[in-house]
Amino acid sequence: MSNSPTHCRLDGRTSSVLLSNHGAIPALAWFGNRLVSSIADSMLENLDDAAHAFANLDARAALSLFPQAASGYMGSPALVGRRYNTNHTTHFTLSDIEQSAQTVTVTLSDEQSRLTLTKQVTLDSNSDVLTIRTSLKNNGTDDYHVDWLASGTLPLPNHFTNCTSQHGRWGLETQSITRPIGPGRLDVQNWHGRTGHEHAPNVICSTEHLCEDHGEAMFLHLAWSGNYSFRTERLNDGNAYVQAGMLLRPGELVIAPGAEFSCPELHLTKGHGLNECTQRFHQYARENILPAWTRKPRPIHANSWEAMYFDLNDEDLKSLVDAAATIGAERFVLDDGWFIGRRDDTAGLGDWQVDQTVFPNGLEPLVKHVRSHGMQFGLWFEPEMVNPNSNLYREHPEWTLHFDQIETPLARNQLVLDVSREDVSNYLFNCINDLVAEYKIDYIKWDMNRDLVLAGDGVFPRASEQPKAVYALMQRLTKAHPNLEIESCSSGGARCDFGVLKCTGRVWTSDNIDPLARTTIQQGFARFFPPEIMGAHVGHMHAHLTGRSTNLHTRAIVALQGQFGFELDARVLDEQEMATLHHYTMLYKKHRAWLNDATYWQLPTSDTLLIGSGQVEQSQHEALFSIVLLDSLRHTRPGCQRLRGLNPETRYWVSLASINIDQLAPFNRTLPPWCTEDFICTGELLMTIGLPLPVMPPQSAVLVHCVAEAN
Ligand code: GLA
Repeated sequence: MSNSPTHCRLDGRTSSVLLSNHGAIPALAWFGNRLVSSIADSMLENLDDAAHAFANLDARAALSLFPQAASGYMGSPALVGRRYNTNHTTHFTLSDIEQSAQTVTVTLSDEQSRLTLTKQVTLDSNSDVLTIRTSLKNNGTDDYHVDWLASGTLPLPNHFTNCTSQHGRWGLETQSITRPIGPGRLDVQNWHGRTGHEHAPNVICSTEHLCEDHGEAMFLHLAWSGNYSFRTERLNDGNAYVQAGMLLRPGELVIAPGAEFSCPELHLTKGHGLNECTQRFHQYARENILPAWTRKPRPIHANSWEAMYFDLNDEDLKSLVDAAATIGAERFVLDDGWFIGRRDDTAGLGDWQVDQTVFPNGLEPLVKHVRSHGMQFGLWFEPEMVNPNSNLYREHPEWTLHFDQIETPLARNQLVLDVSREDVSNYLFNCINDLVAEYKIDYIKWDMNRDLVLAGDGVFPRASEQPKAVYALMQRLTKAHPNLEIESCSSGGARCDFGVLKCTGRVWTSDNIDPLARTTIQQGFARFFPPEIMGAHVGHMHAHLTGRSTNLHTRAIVALQGQFGFELDARVLDEQEMATLHHYTMLYKKHRAWLNDATYWQLPTSDTLLIGSGQVEQSQHEALFSIVLLDSLRHTRPGCQRLRGLNPETRYWVSLASINIDQLAPFNRTLPPWCTEDFICTGELLMTIGLPLPVMPPQSAVLVHCVAEAN
């Protein structure tokens, strides 16, 4: 292109992006700290890493925005596809590059393959999160078959040596694993058909020493609730890259003549220390992804699941509602078990009508009772699923995702409906819509409890159609009921990503509400997603998933890190427990308005058993920090805990917001005075010297409140 710019520059608040346009296809020359100098084309041209070694191809294969095998690039190419009966290899060249405000749009074309590729690179000027949008258009007269189309490929700076990804299982989501980026491709592949417990679409590429405050890091997130792959590799020329995109089965993605396919968006930011990148992702999600209702103070939930499981009846539910109201719940959620035939998990999914054998007068009496306490009403659905033992399946076995002649393995006794079929999505819309309208349902807990296996329409794979169809169904419902809130649940936290979060604004973080397990799960969750959307419930003393018993204060303090709620049988609590819970409920209510858009900090601690995090009000007037001790410390005392995010010059009143002094005192010959007396201190000293923690018994927690001295 003769008159296209030789470089494009985007500036955010603290980041800049430089795209250089010297090679055949533009390349990312810089993404990171905001640049202050003015840049001449010749500078970028000369800084292009042009040294060429012997024993390679005669021309260097550059790591462009769209690396392709045809240019001799040996890493993972941006596109693998084919057209039958013709040349299978693509070779794109630049046809246009233009910049408007915060976006650079690059158009590549391949005349021979009759394809056009568009890449939009947008830097959000508030949050410094970069978004890459990629689409491929088929200009030919026959189908184009795609096996792999990356949402984005990014070069990594030479000194980035590590890749941290999040993995887990049911009941233990978002646990980090760090591996070196070396020769040989590290390919984190998720084939679970949902965002999944096993591999979250959240990756951190970084320098070797990365912690809360230091080290350079690039956070990447793929906005997609289906199959995907994250690839990192250091090539033999020393260049490293990271690439992400949706994973496809053979024959799954066919672009019809004239049609265009858009990849899931890839989001990334590059900053210093984990906290900075985390905060940028939170800001981006709040301003660009999450539904508007998430910006309002969040109500306190009481959920029936761990209190009653499938053992439902009007009378017990009403008494549960009464007890929940007494401890301050504001929304009662009737979980699984209310619909036809659903007495356990072997039957009923798909038959979304109230079971008259359990609720002879429908849900009206219960809903009325809930509302009589001034509470909202929420209901559990698992729309994408069907039990073979259901009326729906008996009528429409052909509605499930399957391959002809092969038996689909069951999971939790259920199969998956093909929501991309119009008849299926209409059926689901009508069922849910009727109930939402009849009972004026405020909130849906939208569950999804199995992996997709053999996800076909009988002949062709369909897994990649499913997430889009589910998003569309959710959007249709919220359009019909603008006040309806939807939570994304998937056996706990197996569906959390910016794709589904555009339609849902709360996530059931994990089925594990043991506060100790939950602490690390929540740390992982909040690395990428804002804590106010993180459903966090106080559970029973004996956690159902781990069998561990924990103190009520620990359970409440951990739940206060997210959207506070209860998932226990409040009817069996004694007076003391009720009073304790009431205290933490009032605390949440008092602070939730500013917590909703607080700046989130994970704290550097002196021991891996101590996990600390804090939320600081935007104007730094107020903050809440929680410090959880998972087990016995090797040393006799936890020492001083450095806080984060306070204004160094401001003087703060510091106090113990958790009312567990009686729990702590017996372990302290002397308590730090601030635990019991008025204490005022500058933010600077709290962040440098740190706040002396009391001796804490294993599995305890403290909640620290800081509020700026009145002027
Ligand atoms: C999943 C959810 C739980 C609960 C059950 C009901 O496991 O994660 O919270 O709703 O389903 O069957």
